[in-house]
Amino acid sequence: MKINENFLKIESSYLFSNIAKRVREYTAANPERAKNIIRLGIGDVTLPLAPACIEAMHKAVDEMSKAETFRGYPPEYGYDFLLNAINDNDYKARGIDFDISEIFVSDGAKSDTGNIGDIFSLDNRVAICDPVYPVYVDTNVMSGRSGDKVDGKWSNIYYMPCLAENDFLPEIPDEKVDIIYLCFPNNPTGMAITKDYLKKWVDYANANKAVILYDSAYEAFVTEDNVPRSIYEIEGAKTCAIEFRSFSKTAGFTGVRCGYTVVPHDLQFDGVELNKFWARRQATKFNGVSYITQRAAEAVYSDEGKKQIKEILAYYQNNAKIIYDGLASCGFKVYGAKNSPYVWLKTPDGMGSWEFFDLLLNELQVVGTPGEGFGPAGEGYFRLTAFGSTENTQKAVERIKNYFSK
Ligand code: MLT
Repeated sequence: MKINENFLKIESSYLFSNIAKRVREYTAANPERAKNIIRLGIGDVTLPLAPACIEAMHKAVDEMSKAETFRGYPPEYGYDFLLNAINDNDYKARGIDFDISEIFVSDGAKSDTGNIGDIFSLDNRVAICDPVYPVYVDTNVMSGRSGDKVDGKWSNIYYMPCLAENDFLPEIPDEKVDIIYLCFPNNPTGMAITKDYLKKWVDYANANKAVILYDSAYEAFVTEDNVPRSIYEIEGAKTCAIEFRSFSKTAGFTGVRCGYTVVPHDLQFDGVELNKFWARRQATKFNGVSYITQRAAEAVYSDEGKKQIKEILAYYQNNAKIIYDGLASCGFKVYGAKNSPYVWLKTPDGMGSWEFFDLLLNELQVVGTPGEGFGPAGEGYFRLTAFGSTENTQKAVERIKNYFSK
């Protein structure tokens, strides 16, 4: 028996598990001070589900209680009622035409962005933004596509630094890459891509027979017209892109678990439709999302649901503005927030990002995420999320302002 040695190469704990552990240790050592902890680290929502979703779930639970309406295994790719609601609202309403066989409902974008590597050869050269949502890198390491870590970087991964100097936008590679992970609005930097710039990526991918894995989990936070919510708003994207979406940030489903992935029939390599590969992968390894959850997701698209969710999003958008404005007012260099629930900031006085993490936790009892946890180019940066309560967000910003205005 041989183990998968790739797991030995990777950090023993996932970024957010590591942060949670540090907070637990701090709490055990400082029980009194820990009572004041404000968590603006992991992007986990705090407001309850929209009433329309709750109502739909209650109704679905009742259906499960009667033999006539009880449901067993869900269809592995999603119930038609949800696939149609997604297609009509997220695509057709924006002039994008899909068949529901191109949409796959799942338990979230984390699983899908992590699992998608199953359908690609290990020989591919992977391009990844730096900093980046750690799932893309970690899953490529686990599968053996990353090579070895040399000076903090994986040898087979093509890194695309996203720094203040390039507006946190990856530059088009000057060499051939095969699999390109893009996430916009971006996690962690909170920065958005314009339609014009995304078109350049689509053109590169089509010209170079590359695939773009487009994580659009934060699309609900887009406020500007020249920023796409879906990569399929860009001409040519259907022949080069897979899109991942999530109800987690859009509708507060972080604990409910539901998302979906679009694999267009037009996406073909060597005459093979990737849609068929993903369908086969999912049918074998995934057993679908619960009926109750899918009814809740369907309710996101009802008139009531849309209205309620808009208010919830506005609440978080206001939090993002509070963080952005508050930190900018006391001299921090801040980014993101406008089309995103994340605020990305430069740490003061060249402080390391974990050093800044410790300072905020120990001195101010504020938890954020050190930029370095998202990749080497994240060093010297720090992420705060807008998903806390407004009261806590204001308190955290006041604490930071008081401390750094001294
Ligand atoms: C984050 O904080 O980056 C996200 O919440 C993580 C996730 O969506 O899995």
